[in-house]
Amino acid sequence: MVVDAADRPLSRDELAMALRESDVLAATVTDRLDAELLNLPGARCRLIASFGVGFNHVAIDAARTAGIRVTNTPGVLTDATADIAMALILSVARRTGEGERLLRSGRWAGWSPTALLGTQVSGKRLGIVGMGRIGQATARRAALGFGMKILYHSRTRLDPVEEAKFDATWITDLRQLLAEADFVSLHCPATPATRHLLNRETLGYMRPHAFVINTARGDVIDEAALADTVQSGRIAGAGLDVYELEPSVHPGLTGLENVVLLPHQGSGSRETREAMGHCAADNIEAFIRGEPLPNPVN
Ligand code: DGY
Repeated sequence: MVVDAADRPLSRDELAMALRESDVLAATVTDRLDAELLNLPGARCRLIASFGVGFNHVAIDAARTAGIRVTNTPGVLTDATADIAMALILSVARRTGEGERLLRSGRWAGWSPTALLGTQVSGKRLGIVGMGRIGQATARRAALGFGMKILYHSRTRLDPVEEAKFDATWITDLRQLLAEADFVSLHCPATPATRHLLNRETLGYMRPHAFVINTARGDVIDEAALADTVQSGRIAGAGLDVYELEPSVHPGLTGLENVVLLPHQGSGSRETREAMGHCAADNIEAFIRGEPLPNPVN
């Protein structure tokens, strides 16, 4: 077993070497495994056990063609990611980033009746795009914990029993959801179909007091369009945990007070990262034993 003890993404050469020399590569979301790498002549790797639920860093079709199985770690990071989505909703609404920056700058002059007035979340409409595990966990928190009204857009409608648990309304037209929501939270996977789902045109359906939240993948938003839309006051702000070109963040976003920016922390609790490790290990063990893989993605 070869262990990369440094907590950093592998370089392209290191990935190529790992694919050539190992039967199993335990990779993660920052390791870009594109078609060229996966088709390396003489590669030995037969399983990529990814540490993470998202798998848009792996060219899945190329892996299939090259005879490489790919697994991920679904389920175990649902609550941690939904917590961060809720934290972002609260942060943008109540301007906690601005408040903390003010205090730390030494410019806070004390309490006043109109300082840093924000938006109350209770009673507001939360539009969820993508109602998988994390979308549902966010809906549950928002509806049952914070009294928000849930609208959702997803390919398939939830079972009515599940829908009733947080009194959610299914909206088939994304534009309608964008036009009706006070907060829009993205929970869909990154696929060619969801790339830049929020762009200049679709952001234009949102209302001036509404906020965008993204804990899914950066590619789902056209960051330049989002920066312009927030900067020009066409929406009220955004809370982001993921970016198109991580670790870079569009410079138009970093200067905006009404944008809360987190460094891809969604799954970052000790408990969750440990569970992700166990899940990846279970997939590797099953592969070595020749048993069905618990979490195949191809
Ligand atoms: C994932 O698993 O896809 C997260 O983005 C990182 O944990």
